[in-house]
Amino acid sequence: MTTPEPQHDSLEAVATEVRGCVRCDLCKTRTKAVPGEGPANAEILFIGEGPGLNEDRTGRPFVGAAGQFLDELLAQAGLKRSECFITNVVKCRPPENRDPLPAEIAACAGYLDRQIALLRPRLIVTLGRFSMARFFPGESISKIHGKLRNVGGQLVLPMFHPAAGLRDPSKRTALIQDFQQIPLALEAARKNQAPPPEKKQSDEEEPPQQLTLF
Ligand code: URA
Ligand code: SF4
Repeated sequence: MTTPEPQHDSLEAVATEVRGCVRCDLCKTRTKAVPGEGPANAEILFIGEGPGLNEDRTGRPFVGAAGQFLDELLAQAGLKRSECFITNVVKCRPPENRDPLPAEIAACAGYLDRQIALLRPRLIVTLGRFSMARFFPGESISKIHGKLRNVGGQLVLPMFHPAAGLRDPSKRTALIQDFQQIPLALEAARKNQAPPPEKKQSDEEEPPQQLTLF
């Protein structure tokens, strides 16, 4: 028998489950799981890769060097971090900050799915290639960063990872420019995107469409 879906899911329920999760081996090496944080009515959801050292210690997303850069990027774009929801593809730190493995991403995907379903954000901003791959499998981040797309009714804006911007000045410049697009994208989302009513999932994925707004 399959377990029935919980009837009243909540972000708190997801966070509690994540903190006790043993679905993949990352649970063995983590200090604290990092479910993500932000208000339930956030219009923007940022999805990073996975917790680093400082996130693993504190249980909070993007609090280390990449997080400080994210804070700067948000401020420069006129956005308040306290109004955004911030999470990661995997909720536990990969040892030595290695890339998350496909099996770990798959094991953790249900939590992100539930967070997206609960938040129904107007805009999802993916940070780095692992969160990009969830919406744009097989695409190259160098080609599609900064391009707002509609994925089955969900607006998604892919970006480089802030940590990449700390290492590479050209990515830093791209990130600053791409972040400037967020307020415009949000405006477009508010106009275009009456939150989708329970949409029937068809088996066929809609191809990502580039919006013609920009
Ligand atoms: N890098 C990420 O991808 N996520 C964090 O939470 C911190 C650093
Ligand atoms: Fe569970 Fe995700 Fe942590 Fe793996 S990374 S133990 S699936 S919360």
